[in-house]
Amino acid sequence: MSDVSSNAQRKQFSWKPDSWRTFPIKHVPEYPNPAELLTIENKLHTYPPLVFAGEIRRLKAQLAAAAKGEAFVLQGGPCAENFEEFTADIIRDVFRILLQMAIVLTYGAKVPVVKIGRIAGQFAKPRSSPTETLQGKELLSYRGEIINGTEFSEISRVPDPKRMETAYFQAAGTLNLIRAFATGGYANLHEVHRWNLDFVERSPLAERYGVLSEKIDDTLAFMRACGLNSQNTPQIHETDFYTSHEALLLPYEQALTRIDSTSGEWYGCSAHFLWIGDRTRQPEGAHVEFLRGIKNPIGIKVGPSANTDDLMKLLDILNPTNEAGRISLITRMGASKIRDLLPPFVHAINQSGNVVTWLCDPMHGNTISTRNGVKTRSFDSILTEVIGFFDTISSCDAIPGGIHIEMTGADVTECIGGAHDLTEADLAERYQTFCDPRLNAEQSLEMAFLVAEELTKRNFAQSNK
Ligand code: PEP
Ligand code: CO
Repeated sequence: MSDVSSNAQRKQFSWKPDSWRTFPIKHVPEYPNPAELLTIENKLHTYPPLVFAGEIRRLKAQLAAAAKGEAFVLQGGPCAENFEEFTADIIRDVFRILLQMAIVLTYGAKVPVVKIGRIAGQFAKPRSSPTETLQGKELLSYRGEIINGTEFSEISRVPDPKRMETAYFQAAGTLNLIRAFATGGYANLHEVHRWNLDFVERSPLAERYGVLSEKIDDTLAFMRACGLNSQNTPQIHETDFYTSHEALLLPYEQALTRIDSTSGEWYGCSAHFLWIGDRTRQPEGAHVEFLRGIKNPIGIKVGPSANTDDLMKLLDILNPTNEAGRISLITRMGASKIRDLLPPFVHAINQSGNVVTWLCDPMHGNTISTRNGVKTRSFDSILTEVIGFFDTISSCDAIPGGIHIEMTGADVTECIGGAHDLTEADLAERYQTFCDPRLNAEQSLEMAFLVAEELTKRNFAQSNK
């Protein structure tokens, strides 16, 4: 393939759902049985879309609002979903904690919070090494449930296209439950707030978190007194909730690409929001080519290895008309680097006039290994990166648009710190992730309280006017 790293060069090639296939590709497996792969792709292509163009457009408009400081994004969920964890309780608990976080952040930011789960399709993982060695035995790395199995055996690590179909049905089941929760009364603000009061009561930092939750309590009581209730105000008992994942496994993404009959445009219908990972954002690569042609809002991870030239090329390719809400830049620099590494990117974007939504992923730049070789992240580094992000973006004359968190609704012990002060020694207790360490339910909620405090301190809504 000749140089296609600029849009002008790329435009010579017309986009099709499969045009990515002639571009260099990283982190997508070779399937040993291409005929079987094709059969599954063809099958998936006939299945119903998981999400609809109208919903995707609504999310894009909300992301455009976040780019202007008129909304705040909360994106969260596990690093990778697991086929074994496809249960109502696990799905409900992630959804529930995200709602609990959202109500606190809404109060802190004084703007609507856009809720996006890393859920119902977050099954494919890029890995730093294609193989993994254990006790002298070398096997293919685990690449996420949609590709191969976690078990350390030769057979389980072979990429299996049938897993794509399982992923599709699990995503459909998860989404079905989430849609029911979002509109069926489970998202009632008063209930969500009651869960938060329970959390605050149990927290060692009850006094600190109590200040904010009492204010929310007062506000809800005031709204009730004014006659705003779930019978006459749908916003009190239902919510918008969107899905997202890394668009890594392109055969799957292509199979779920559909033309929207109202606009005649292509949409990726595996999730509302799709992002390109830090390892697959090469301007001349296949992932960028695929995402160029679909109309969904797109996230781009921006880590320490990114450079401004490539970022400008990416924006030119992925958003040539500078549509607001189309691009979210998800920075993941690390707590100690963000203040140094982020400014050149913000200045370059400001100078170019591109509209982007700035999101902070404070997880992926803060992964450390304990003395026993266990991957973890410290609660303090995560919070430090979020604060560094707010400070840097604001001092560069841009607007922080939201946060992107790896979390779960369960009581796992994967990240250290937080009010219960989890230590390295506690990690072994309930370390359940197959991928990156997640904030547990309490740590996630605490993070929301502390980020909300920051937003209040900064007078977020007013300062963005
Ligand atoms: C992720 O979000 O799980 C991930 C792999 O992130 P990144 O591409 O930023 O490393
Ligand atoms: Co991760």
